[in-house]
Amino acid sequence: MNLQGKHLIAPHDLTMAETDGLFALAEKIIAAPEDYADVCRGKLLATLFYEPSTRTRLSFEAAMLRLGGRVIGFSEPQSSSAAKGESLADTIRSIACYADIAVMRHPKEGAAFVAAQNSEIPLINAGDGGHFHPTQTLTDLLTIRHEKRRLDGLTVGLCGDLKFGRTVHSLICAFARYTGVKFVLISPDELRVPEYVCAEMHDYSEVRDLADALPELDVLYMTRVQRERFFNEEDYIRLKDSYILDAAKLKNAKSDLMILHPLPRVNEIATDVDDDPRAFYFRQMKFGMYVRMALLAALLGKA
Ligand code: NCD
Repeated sequence: MNLQGKHLIAPHDLTMAETDGLFALAEKIIAAPEDYADVCRGKLLATLFYEPSTRTRLSFEAAMLRLGGRVIGFSEPQSSSAAKGESLADTIRSIACYADIAVMRHPKEGAAFVAAQNSEIPLINAGDGGHFHPTQTLTDLLTIRHEKRRLDGLTVGLCGDLKFGRTVHSLICAFARYTGVKFVLISPDELRVPEYVCAEMHDYSEVRDLADALPELDVLYMTRVQRERFFNEEDYIRLKDSYILDAAKLKNAKSDLMILHPLPRVNEIATDVDDDPRAFYFRQMKFGMYVRMALLAALLGKA
């Protein structure tokens, strides 16, 4: 696997072999983190966050610091020159003078692609509007692969806001490349998976009811309704509680079901699910940090 100098904007930017290479590296880091404590010594990561974030930004920062590198950045676009009207292209040109690698989150679809075209350093998309979020996908797939020891042949339910959920779009595009993966898409009619993402799947069904779909699932990926992408508040209010997973519903699920959620959760998983051994959404975060360590090291040519 040679990923040195590459950008990661969309899930397709990594081949399956490269993706599997990153997972293998992440597993090595999990097994012996001390062996990697210095691999990015002297390297600087810039975090450019034009949208709110807790996990993604902090896990990138933690990942770089744990590799011995350092971090600069902003998490408030109002405190950057974007507030003065600077273009994304100019911002990324400037950042490339200071840092060795950059990670960017932006409310507009395609923003990371535009930035990458103007970037001399590797650029990682940490979410561009309702489009893609490829490092959350690496997190999700590593979590499943670590637990189930495979990604092939699984039945995967995705539930909630499948229209605006960028983690959903990325996950489908990457997961659909594995053999025998069957998708069950659970959403209200208004929040169905967009056409360009449906085109990636070989085997899928669209249903309305979560309880009906649950018994056949190996993985259930719950998502929040993406309030910030709605055009009006009434639609959001009408749709926000379409699905609430609780302990009672889980009675009919497989004993080795994995429940994932990219977080933040709002109402869609009741807290009475948190202690169920099938709830993986908190453990999932740790895999996010490790796979980002693997990615940073690889893009910097240190792995
Ligand atoms: C997701 C995102 O930002 O798209 N969060 C994350 O990165 N873990 C999911 C969400 O905000 O609903």
